[in-house]
Amino acid sequence: MWTGTPLFPERASTMAGRVDALYFFLLGITAFFSLLIAGLIVYYAIKYRRRTPDAVGAPIHGGLALEVTWTVIPLFITMILFVWGASVFFAMSRPPDETLDIYVVGKQWMWKVQHLDGQREIDELHVPVGRAVKLIMTSEDVIHSFFIPAFRVKADVIPGRYTTLWFQSTTPGRYHLFCAEYCGTKHSGMIGQIVVMEPSEYQTWLSGGSPEGSLASTGAKLFADLACNTCHRSDAQGRGPVLEGLFGKTVTLQSGETVAVDEAYVRESILMPSAKVAAGFQPIMPTFQGLVTEEQLLALVEYVKSLRGLPQVQAR
Ligand code: CUA
Repeated sequence: MWTGTPLFPERASTMAGRVDALYFFLLGITAFFSLLIAGLIVYYAIKYRRRTPDAVGAPIHGGLALEVTWTVIPLFITMILFVWGASVFFAMSRPPDETLDIYVVGKQWMWKVQHLDGQREIDELHVPVGRAVKLIMTSEDVIHSFFIPAFRVKADVIPGRYTTLWFQSTTPGRYHLFCAEYCGTKHSGMIGQIVVMEPSEYQTWLSGGSPEGSLASTGAKLFADLACNTCHRSDAQGRGPVLEGLFGKTVTLQSGETVAVDEAYVRESILMPSAKVAAGFQPIMPTFQGLVTEEQLLALVEYVKSLRGLPQVQAR
């Protein structure tokens, strides 16, 4: 309803309407009670004004009905807000099972985007309309925040960690991308565009040249270049765990604890190999901290992910 005014961003994702509905409800409740209370103050100030210089107010000793009323009504309203807000929050934080995954790396002061097919872009993100997109994001330096007002989504982008954000766009077009966390001198310049395209256009755009090949193949090459494959062999004869079929599984550690093999675990195992060593293996892997960039890490993670569908050989 306010989308025509420059004060209010367009609505271009499935989540936008839900966030706005809650926002306007909150705004309506606030406006209603602000006006009610301010109105009553003025009304009573006039009605019960002192009429003679020596007038004394009548003493009042509580009123049960009144107190119950002003306790129960706010309780009821806050519970509505809580349940409503929680349902929107869960919907925003839980991506659907089938998503188009795209990697994002923030750095002072740009957004680097890496598509699985190998396409890279800077300060731009092309996505197909109507498709659930999941961004897997990290930072090379300080904390940034990935914010698309038209989609009503925002998530911190944190060094040393992967955070995710998902959205499903509803209308083709170009939308603003902002960094919403002060990150240094050119924070305000850390902006970009989200380009939402028709699926066929998107396919054309994707195939428009990526000489390096897919992200997973870049990762596979890196895997060989860094000699990871000397220990992580597919025949279960290596000194490190077999990676085929590993991603998405749960592994047992030396300590007996279990850990899910997700992006964060793969990343940690590359940078801090001795942090969570799988049971049955020695903590002999060297760290790759400082040797690989965040983007190379993403390629390695994607490579390990791409091995997910392959059969896993039984460990020794
Ligand atoms: Cu990056 Cu502000």
